[in-house]
Amino acid sequence: MTEPVIKPIEAIIAETRKQIQPYVFKRLEARTPRKAGEKIARTITVTSGKGGVGKTSLVANIAICLAQSGQRVIILDADLGLANIDVVFGIRPRYNLMDVVNGDMNIDEIMIQGPSGIQIIAGGSGVSELAQLDQEKSQKLFNQLRFLEDKTDFLLIDTGAGISDSVISFCHAADQIIVISTTEPTSLADAYGIIKIISGKRPDSHVSLLVNRVDEESEGVQVHERVARVAAEFLHFPVHHLGTLPQDRNMHLAVRQQTPLMLFSPMSPAATGIRKIVSQSFHEIPETVSRDGIEGFFTRLTRFFKGGSTQ
Ligand SMILES: Nc1ncnc2c1ncn2[C@@H]1O[C@H](COP(=O)(O)OP(=O)(O)OP(=O)(O)O)[C@@H](O)[C@H]1O
Ligand SMILES: [Mg+2]
Repeated sequence: MTEPVIKPIEAIIAETRKQIQPYVFKRLEARTPRKAGEKIARTITVTSGKGGVGKTSLVANIAICLAQSGQRVIILDADLGLANIDVVFGIRPRYNLMDVVNGDMNIDEIMIQGPSGIQIIAGGSGVSELAQLDQEKSQKLFNQLRFLEDKTDFLLIDTGAGISDSVISFCHAADQIIVISTTEPTSLADAYGIIKIISGKRPDSHVSLLVNRVDEESEGVQVHERVARVAAEFLHFPVHHLGTLPQDRNMHLAVRQQTPLMLFSPMSPAATGIRKIVSQSFHEIPETVSRDGIEGFFTRLTRFFKGGSTQ
């Protein structure tokens, strides 16, 4: 196998702009004007049962795609284990949420500027420490988070895999949950496992399945149908279909370049698939989704960490 030619990032970005221009990429409707203090940022947690199925890659690329269509996006890297959103973007966060809570930093100071105007918050150890926050520190965090409410259209949360309390709490806190699976039986079984827990803890959750690394789109559709049928029958819980993404070696090449696929190879099959998903499923808010904004998200999150219900 020949090594890919390594292009400078400026060339990649210029090429991307050129390629995307003629592509009719519908800008999302102008943002609904907000009344002061109105909470309408959308919070979406991306998770999976099994690890390594593409969560981080998809969060990064969905974020870029949304940003390219005029939306303001913040990514919260909530993977307590091997956090790797920074690897995808080739950046190294110095601060995390706890620097806001414990230090004198404000939320703007810990956010890292990513490509296409997206912002990244490293959760770091701060995420698990949310449980221990006393009243004063919780208040400090909330006061800072309020600033984000007016600056953000989407908060995308990248979690680790599995059914740890931490992952489940991020699912319960968000307005919407995207579960990613491949077509492998183990990945599907684990995806069902996490859907079962989500549905048991919060039956009004809005869960969509994204089937990644398919050979044929029909394969993904069938997989979704199977999961949705079992979930409807045994859990009485709807599992929506977010879409399918093809197996695409450009994804791997992009990671090696530490450049999100959407910038590295915007016309590749997976990038095209991500654009399709974003334009079909992120423009409008499904009726069953209730939006609580970022403050609602963190309120539920800390409540859950402290052992209470998220409702
Ligand atoms: N559609 C795809 N085609 C080919 N490779 C893919 C695709 N999606 C993801 N990958 C590759 O799968 C690997 C794992 O992806 P990623 O790190 O995004 O998964 P993850 O679910 O975040 O993993 P973890 O559970 O460890 O956090 C990466 O090397 C990525 O390039
Ligand atoms: Mg990951």
